[in-house]
Order: sequence, then structure tokens, then C-alpha cells
Amino acid sequence: MNKSSILSKAQNYENEFINNIDIQEKPLFHFSAPVGWINDPNGFSSFNKEYHLFYQYHPYSANWGPMHWGHSKTKDFIKWEKLPIALAPDEEYDKKGCFSGTAIEADGKHILMYTGVCEESNGSELHAERQIQCIAIGDGINYEKIECNPVIPTSMIPEGSSLIDFRDPKIWRSGDKFYSVVASRSEDGSGQILLYSSNNLKDWEFVTVIDKSNNEIGRMWECPDFFNIDENQILIISPQEMKAEGLRFQNGSNAVYTIGTYDEEKHSFTRKDYNQIDYGLDFYAPQTLKAEDGRRIMIGWMHSWENRIIPDSFKWCGMMTIPRELTVRDGLLIQNPVREIENYYKNSVEYTDILVKDEIRLDKISGRNIDMTVEIMDGDYNELQIKVAKNSECETTISYEPSKNIVTFDRTYSGTNRGVLHRSSMKLKKNDGNTKIRILLDNYSAEIFTNDGEEAMTCTFYTPLDAQDISFSCDGTAKINVIKHDIVV
Ligand code: FRU
Repeated sequence: MNKSSILSKAQNYENEFINNIDIQEKPLFHFSAPVGWINDPNGFSSFNKEYHLFYQYHPYSANWGPMHWGHSKTKDFIKWEKLPIALAPDEEYDKKGCFSGTAIEADGKHILMYTGVCEESNGSELHAERQIQCIAIGDGINYEKIECNPVIPTSMIPEGSSLIDFRDPKIWRSGDKFYSVVASRSEDGSGQILLYSSNNLKDWEFVTVIDKSNNEIGRMWECPDFFNIDENQILIISPQEMKAEGLRFQNGSNAVYTIGTYDEEKHSFTRKDYNQIDYGLDFYAPQTLKAEDGRRIMIGWMHSWENRIIPDSFKWCGMMTIPRELTVRDGLLIQNPVREIENYYKNSVEYTDILVKDEIRLDKISGRNIDMTVEIMDGDYNELQIKVAKNSECETTISYEPSKNIVTFDRTYSGTNRGVLHRSSMKLKKNDGNTKIRILLDNYSAEIFTNDGEEAMTCTFYTPLDAQDISFSCDGTAKINVIKHDIVV
């Protein structure tokens, strides 16, 4: 296999500069950029009984740039092994970037399908940007782009749809056929999801439009995923330019899901409304795989296009969420951290029936790498606050207001100096009984799961790591139970 000089250069750069980053400066148990910048998870897939994760990658700086595919793998979704960069923008048809895509195991090979961004001459002097779908085949370490790329050129886009916004394929197999959904922009300028099929991964044909926005759910749709959990067919998309509706969609770019039914013969998808997947400030472009044991696992980019707060001194930018197990309960998507996290629990502490009034700290409950569940029982108060990553200068607050049934995350005082969105609130569905707030805290992030995964809220913050305290306070009296585990990887 001939490796291009562009790929070799990126691999060598990564190997050289990865050692310049102090490992203590990274998150402990969340995947993060080896060096430079990462965005969307790509090609999250099972291959040879291991789980592979690729990612949009610009190793050369902590900012977005010409996209490569970085590559890592894991056996348990928690510990990752870095592999050589898999794809670089080194062909005429992807020279402006290897954008997001997908992977699948077929005939013992690992197949990547990604979006090539190129310039197409339209006969005159003009060179217009185009997006097309391409294939690379590999063995889990090295990947080769196939000769007949692009496999889905712009000529296969339905008439009237954008030739520039056509990206992020997600592939699956059904019987002998391969299918791929691709995000696109229809005549009205808003998002739609196109379905293509193939018998051999090289020759593709357009099948149908699976769903479209009609300018109701944001503008361009990005990063589709289409899969079933039991009899529920789920479409995930990441729409740009969403307008805020109450507490929902306050973040510009959001990730949403809808549950419906899919007639595989007619390729017709009937759906209900779209719901926000995660109410946090930093969650986008999630992708799922089916694990060996049948679980549907989702991982998302734990960052935001709009609200960048990472300090300029960092030589890396971008993290992924904890992989999450997805299930469906009462027609809603339920998310919980993969159970493998429990294998890394240490120093577990449990408190029951603690009365919270003025601000208190609980012995052995502190730190920046923990999995903590606070169960709030009865009380007479307006707001209960849990403060994390706290020292005399900084704090990040997670609060619960029972009368509104709202959980709020606030990083205003986390030490940031950027004037972007710092607060996010979510309304809980359950409105009787105790309220459970599970906080998965890592050095620079909090993933909050309420009531056993009914809602999720993911936010980053970059408080100096010596802020380790955790406190509980209330403007009346509340009774809580707390279970905390340190995470040691
Ligand atoms: C989503 C996205 C994708 C695109 C990639 C480029 O975050 O905009 O649509 O393929 O990022 O890096």
C-alpha cells in the first residue's frame, strides 16, 4: 500500500507532538483530541471484536482545518488505544477535506464511507465546492481509498438539492444489501435525509428521501443515524440553526431524535416529533453502533460550534461523551453511561437521609473524576444546589427547582472569561416521587443524567484542576441520599 506524503506527514506530526501534551492536562476517562482539534465521532463500529472510533481531526492546531480521520479503538468503551491517522485529504476528490462518515465490517474487512470535499470545475473558470461520498477499505490499522471513488458523485443527488451540502453517510446492512443515509439540503434550503443502496459497496443507487425538515427543524441537517431498538425505528440528526423553543434548542446547533416505524420493503419512514437528545451546552453529531451483546451505544462530540470556552493555552481541543447505552421507554429515548464504567469505581461512599440547609460538604465527597448520584427526597425549598469543581475562586453549579421541575447547569463562575452561553436548563418529565441526578464528572466536563437516563445534559468547563471541592446547599431544607464513586482508570 502506498501511503501518501500528506498522510505520512500528519501521522509523523501526531507522533511527535503528542508527547508535548501533559497527560494531566487531559480528561481522565473521556476520549479527547490526541493533539490539535477533533470534532464529530466517525466510523464508530465493531471490527474483529473491538470497537473502533474515528474522528474529524486537524492535528496541526487546536482549530478546525483540513479534515483528516484520526483513529482509536477500545475493548470496553472506557480505555482507548490510539492508532495511526487513517485518512488524509490527499486525493483530488477529497483535497478540501475528508468529512464525517461511517464504518462497517464486511467480508473480514473494515469499510469506511466518508464525505470527500472537492472543487469541481463547471466548464468555465469557476471552481465550485462539492461534496461526494467515498469508500476506503482497511484491516483495522491501514486504510486504502478505492480506485472508483467517488462512489456517490453529485450526479446521484436528486434534482434541485444542494451539491455543496451533501455529507455524513451512515451505513448499515440488511440481508445482502448495504444502505446508507446521507444528509442533504433540499430545494427549500432546509435539511433532508437521502437513502442510497448498494450490493457491493461500490455501485450505489438513490432510493428515496427518508425525511425532510420543510424548514421546521433547523436549516441544514448533519450527521444522520438510522437504526432500530426493538420495534422502534430511530432517526438521529444534528440540525444547524435551530431556533430556541422554551428551554429547548437554546444552543444553535443541536442533536435531535425521532422515533417512528420503518417499512423496509417500501423504504418509508413514518415518524413522530423531534426531541432534543441532550440539553447541555456541549453535545453534537452523535453516532451509534450495535455492540457485540446487542446494546445500542451512542457517542457524541462533547463540544459546541458556537460556545467555545477552552483556554487558548491548551494544545488540544475537543472531547467525546462517555459512550451511552440507549433504550426506549414509554416512547422516549433513555440514555445511561455504559455499564463498563463501574469496573473503574474506587473509594465508593454512601450517605443516606442527609438534611441540607446551609452549604455543607460531605467527608470523602470531592474530586474531579467521579460518578455521583444525588437522590433528592422531600423537602421545603425553592432550590437545591450542588456545586462542583469548587475552590475559593471558582464553582460550577447544578441546581434543582422542585416547583418548576427544572435542573440547571451553570458554568458562569467556572473560571471562564468568554462571554458565551454558560447556563442551560431542562425540564424533567417525571413529576412525582424522588428526583435522581447522576453526575459524571471528569476534569473538564459534567454529564448529567436525571431519573435513570430520562434526560441528559452535557457541558464542558475548564476550571483549574486544583478546584476539587463539592458542596450541597439549599434555600430551605431538603433531604438527600448520595452515592459517590471515584473513577480511577
Ligand atoms: C458536523 C460537521 C459535519 C461535517 C464535519 C466537518 O459537526 O459539520 O457535517 O462532515 O462537521 O468537520
